[in-house]
Amino acid sequence: MSQEEVSLEARLEEQEAFEPPESFVEQANVADPSIYEEFEENWPECWERAADLLSWEEEYDTVLEDGDAPFYEWFTGGELNASYNCLDRHVEDGAKNRAAIKWEGELGETRTYTYGELLNEVEAFAATLRDLGVEEDDVVTLYMPMIPELPVAMLACARIGAPHSVVFAGFSADALATRMNAADSEYLVTCDGYYRRGDALDHISKANEGLEGVEHEVSDVVVVDRLGDALSHSLGDNQHDYDELVEEHEGASVDPVSRDAEDMLFLMYTSGTTGEPKGVKHTTGGYLAYTAWTSHSVLDIKPEDTYWCSADIGWITGHSYIVYGPLALGTTTMMYEGTPDYPEKDRLWEIVEKNRVDVFYTAPTAIRAFMKWGSQYPEEHDLSSLRLLGTVGEPINPRAWKWYYKHIGDEECPIVDTWWQTETGGMMITTLPAINTMKPGSAGPPLPGISAKVVDAEGEEVSAGKAGYVTVDKPWPGMLRTLYKNDERFIEEYWDEYSDEEADEWVYFPEDGAKIDDDGYITILGRVDDVINVSGHRLGTMEIESAVVGVEGVAEAAVVGGDHDVKGEAVYVYAIPEDGYEGNDELGERVIEGVVDAIGPIARPEEVIFTPELPKTRSGKIMRRLLEDIASGNELGDTSTLRNPEVVDDIEEQVAGD
Ligand code: WT7
Repeated sequence: MSQEEVSLEARLEEQEAFEPPESFVEQANVADPSIYEEFEENWPECWERAADLLSWEEEYDTVLEDGDAPFYEWFTGGELNASYNCLDRHVEDGAKNRAAIKWEGELGETRTYTYGELLNEVEAFAATLRDLGVEEDDVVTLYMPMIPELPVAMLACARIGAPHSVVFAGFSADALATRMNAADSEYLVTCDGYYRRGDALDHISKANEGLEGVEHEVSDVVVVDRLGDALSHSLGDNQHDYDELVEEHEGASVDPVSRDAEDMLFLMYTSGTTGEPKGVKHTTGGYLAYTAWTSHSVLDIKPEDTYWCSADIGWITGHSYIVYGPLALGTTTMMYEGTPDYPEKDRLWEIVEKNRVDVFYTAPTAIRAFMKWGSQYPEEHDLSSLRLLGTVGEPINPRAWKWYYKHIGDEECPIVDTWWQTETGGMMITTLPAINTMKPGSAGPPLPGISAKVVDAEGEEVSAGKAGYVTVDKPWPGMLRTLYKNDERFIEEYWDEYSDEEADEWVYFPEDGAKIDDDGYITILGRVDDVINVSGHRLGTMEIESAVVGVEGVAEAAVVGGDHDVKGEAVYVYAIPEDGYEGNDELGERVIEGVVDAIGPIARPEEVIFTPELPKTRSGKIMRRLLEDIASGNELGDTSTLRNPEVVDDIEEQVAGD
């Protein structure tokens, strides 16, 4: 580094607050700070601003219906169709030749769908689904990687009022079966395979294996041929080729069905404290209004932009901020099939340069990987088209924030650190990029109209600097409405902790720890339940534990998250071998395999530690905190209250020994 660069680094390191550049403020969608007051004074009618970004077939009568809280309803009486809002209205407005989706395949192929073309294909596929027998309110499962047919299928479902349930392509066959069973889903759209680091990956075998685990009859399966000759596959009895069906239905016109604002748009399964994934239900009006509003106000998306969120559509980030929010605003949204280091570690920057990307949204884990690879990769490219950067999924450490700010944004792009969840539908806590000062590491204040607080165990707001729990004590349009067919669990999981049912005061509990500064900025500290966050992906420790104890030779296990410098957290398994088995490498390998088979490669354990006993309290509870500290290499606190303190040294030695 030159002398000049060294002093620049030093200055950045010390700087704790950053102002949005004037050039950004001048052009921003939302730049007037009075928005906070406006929303506060005019709540809940303020949310009309979000609803106004959509085209309603039938105007709503009431903004918020809270008579049956916490089963809130938004924009009641309103009717609309999400696919109409994402496609037809832009075509009618003269944007038929604007790119809607620009796709980059891993091997370098590209495909562009204009709004006109996307609408045609969505209509053809919607007609296909209807012909196969899909009716309004039937759940269609989509088990697909990052190929354009995934958003096509989502919008085709939305067009005919069939909720989709997207299962992340990296999830296992078991995970697919569990989700199809839970949703009673009789239709599946999948593909033969896709590319990962240049290799053709077989996906259809996994899909077929998953189908074997579905307990009800599956009516039809549609298979996209992504790989052509690179992978031959044969279709089963009720399986159809996507291209053939779409060709047959080319030119079909399918009227978008009118959906009630509260009708389900989709289901998304996510991990919780118990082993059973939760089917988060999102609705048509509130969700779409909320994702359009946050895409407009936080991501500052304009129709003429090329916008890129590098998440996978299989997670909520991709649903809200690759598909629904950006397309509702009529912008060009990018999709990339592959990994950021293929063929080289500059792949993302090459895509940004080539497509002149304006707004880029990614996860801290990716930024930490870029940092590790070095700034020479972005430096090889012209990134001057970028106007705004965003992060999501996990806390971002100030060092990674500053690296992103300097090496990707050239100190000219604001960064939004957006805290939200599958359940919230869209962003909740973040700065507004043209209005607030940025403080690296702190997500920012709650968005206008969002009543997020940091409270102690009793529900009292904590004082500045103290740690507590995030709560939200007013509803918002993008919130989940319930857990699919499980209202009881919905209440238990999210509302029991802090609500006063008698007083009809309902408080949403996201299960995140946080602290608040005296200026109201919230710093998220991480999950307080048994959920771990690996590379911004949420995994339930109980799901992993049940996979581990399912492995022959394992008697008992505890799974925890330990610190990891790129992934944020990594999976650590502590296991007790069964009598007659030895805790050796072979068993360790089988444990890893068992977890990957049950959940998918994202849950692959970092380490499997065998121990004759797990540290337990006198009452027999496993001391998870202690296991987390051991995995993270932290100082251990007092272990004398354990029933079996002697096991701790033993375990520590093993972990340190590797
Ligand atoms: C959990 C939700 C939101 C879409 C991706 C993950 C953590 C999310 C941040 C952030 C700190 C964050 C929380 C949250 N999280 N964004 N900006 N700073 N933590 O969605 O799988 O539902 O996970 O991700 O712990 O509860 P998800």
